[in-house]
Amino acid sequence: MKEHIFQKSEVENSQMAVKFYCSENQVPLEMHKVRVVQKLSLLPIEERLKKIQEAGNNTFLLQNKDIYMDMLTDSGVNAMSDKQTAAMHIADDAYAGSESFNRFKKAVKEVFGVDNVLPAHQGRAAENILAERFVKPGMVTLMNFHFTTTKAHITRLGGEVIELVDKKGLQPVSNDPFKGDFDLKLLEKTIKEKGPEKVAFVRVEAGTNLIGGQPVSLANMCAVADICHKYGIPSVLDASLLQDNIYFMKMREAQCKYMEPKEIYHLLADKMDIIYFSARKLGFARGGAILSHNVELIRSMMEFVPLYEGFLTYGGIDVRSIEAMAEGLYESLDMEYLAHGPEFIAYLVKELDDYGVPVIKPAGGLGAHLNCSAFVPEMPHNQYPAGAVSAALYLVGGIRPMERGTLSEQREPDGTERYAELELARLAVPRRVFTLSQIKYCADRVKWLWDNRNLIGGLEWVEEPAVLRFFFGRLKEIGHWQEALVEKFRKDFGDSL
Ligand code: F0G
Repeated sequence: MKEHIFQKSEVENSQMAVKFYCSENQVPLEMHKVRVVQKLSLLPIEERLKKIQEAGNNTFLLQNKDIYMDMLTDSGVNAMSDKQTAAMHIADDAYAGSESFNRFKKAVKEVFGVDNVLPAHQGRAAENILAERFVKPGMVTLMNFHFTTTKAHITRLGGEVIELVDKKGLQPVSNDPFKGDFDLKLLEKTIKEKGPEKVAFVRVEAGTNLIGGQPVSLANMCAVADICHKYGIPSVLDASLLQDNIYFMKMREAQCKYMEPKEIYHLLADKMDIIYFSARKLGFARGGAILSHNVELIRSMMEFVPLYEGFLTYGGIDVRSIEAMAEGLYESLDMEYLAHGPEFIAYLVKELDDYGVPVIKPAGGLGAHLNCSAFVPEMPHNQYPAGAVSAALYLVGGIRPMERGTLSEQREPDGTERYAELELARLAVPRRVFTLSQIKYCADRVKWLWDNRNLIGGLEWVEEPAVLRFFFGRLKEIGHWQEALVEKFRKDFGDSL
């Protein structure tokens, strides 16, 4: 039986945070200092209105110079440590046999205990290789939940994605500490129904992105690997968000409390046939990799690396970034670094939740997630509630969220909309980037928007691309609700930015 210690607020109960003498709310204290800064600007709201409309109400199409808080993603935008930037200076430029790659391999060995590593230029490039290797038309891939790029590669090759997350994961608010867990019974049932030979692989996504950065328990990951083993199906761990997931395992799962992070990384590498990750997330660098103890499996994917990425010792990654990846992997063993993201996120979620703003609970990794189905409950899916709230938040705060709802879905092959299970506006918290006063500013503007939610209207397409439409698609407001929001902002805030 797995045993969980679920703590209501990681911030209040954190083992890591220093306790305050005179603070009502426990404050997550940074265990680092900032030594390089970048100037920001906050445009007046009238200019923000112009910018969001020029961007087709798609926050991907905004320019960074027009943004005050870029909370689009934590991918490739985490602040690097002094050690990472120092390591970049000793990079060994070589097409083949670079020392930088050897240092990266050494870090992989230390952190995961694995010898065999293939580089890929980022997470989705690793996914492309996995899909090319395992997916044939008519095959299925089973996962707790899809990720956009993963699914696009699989469906491109004629495969199908079946999501088997436990239904607790789709409840916006629950008390469950591991909402990313697989429904294990359903996994076995699906394997039997489809036939094991039809299953290309089973993919466990740590820190399940699209349901709110929700973690998977160690017990559940191991059980999935055991089921795969029983049926002879490859088990794959997407470790892109494993850092946050390991923090939650240590905080919420009794068996992990006294385990060192390294023991957990090693155990997972022993259990899973293949691990891949985006180093834009894991290790706060840029790049990606595929690892396995199984030499034959690695060999079977090797040819795709020079074909799609670059030679086996750089894989399309700049050697300086390979050095940063190596150092970042060592740092991903340090609980003080691991704790920073989840504790800032828990703080933001608590601020919003205490005010009544609908947020995904419990707080996960990656960022805070607004539940837009409850934020604008009257708005139908096909007016893109999460897209509308995201555009509105840029408008009222210069804050750039990411739509993670129906807009981020692909249409069905017959052209009908596939409505997202959850309509989320994600406020990613890139690590070590924002100060707590900026997080408080973000909470303040979300609270104002919540109080003025009756003004938010829907969006409609102007240009809708067929593939990954959320990246490039352009939409416009239905009616003139954005102008009404600007007017109300001026009324409430006077000449404030
Ligand atoms: N897997 C997960 C769980 C991810 O979150 C991502 C990227 C990828 C794979 C792909 O990695 O970007 O290096 O190609 N997530 C980013 C995000 C894009 O904003 O959540 P990549």
